[in-house]
Amino acid sequence: MISPEPGAATAPEHRVFFALWPDAPARAALVRLSREVAHHAHGKAPREDNLHLTLAFVGAVADERLAALERIGGEAAAGLAPFELALERVGGTGYGIAWLSSDGVPPPLAALHAALTGGLSRAGFAIERRMFRPHLTLARHCARAAQRGPVSPVRWTVERLALVESTLAAGGSHYRDVASWPLGAPPPR
Ligand code: 2AM
Repeated sequence: MISPEPGAATAPEHRVFFALWPDAPARAALVRLSREVAHHAHGKAPREDNLHLTLAFVGAVADERLAALERIGGEAAAGLAPFELALERVGGTGYGIAWLSSDGVPPPLAALHAALTGGLSRAGFAIERRMFRPHLTLARHCARAAQRGPVSPVRWTVERLALVESTLAAGGSHYRDVASWPLGAPPPR
C-alpha cells in the first residue's frame, strides 16, 4: 500500500451499512434479553440505542458515494410494504459473539436484502457473497458460549430502512442515521 504524503489530505470516509432499528417495545425486550445473555455468557451487551439488525454491510465509502447509497436505499424501501419481523433464536460464534436470529429468513426480509444487494452490485459496490443470515448482536466479548436455542420471539413491524454510519468512539461504536426511508413510499426524486 502507498502511504499518503505527510500532510496530504485524505478523502473523508464513512463506514456505513443498511440496517433496521427495532421499535420501542422491541428495543425494551431486546435490552432485557441482551443483558440476560451477556450476563450468562460473561460478555458485554451493546448499548441500548445500538441494537439493530444489519441488512447489508457496505464498509468505508467516500463522501461522494453517499448519494448513490441513498438512491439505492430509497428504491429498495419503496419496493416493499411494511412487514412483521420475529426473531426467536439465540445463537453464537466461537468468537465471543451472541446474537438473536429468526428461524429461516422471512420472505420480505429476503426481498429487502436482495433489493439492496442488487442495487449495490449494479452501482459497483462490493457485496458479500455469503448467504444472508439475519442476526441482531446481543453480546460481544463473551468468555463463555451463550446458551443457544429458542426464546420468546421479539417482534416488531418493520416500517423503515436506514443507512447508518458507524464511528468508533472511546466508549465503543456510535451509530447515526445518514438517511432513512419508510417502506412502501414512493422513492425520493
Ligand atoms: P455484528 O453486529 O455481527 O458485528 C456495524 O458494524 C454493523 O455491521 C454490525 O451489525 C456488524 O455486525 C456489521 N458488520 C461489521 N463488519 C461486517 C462485515 N465485514 N460484514 C458484514 N457485516 C459486518
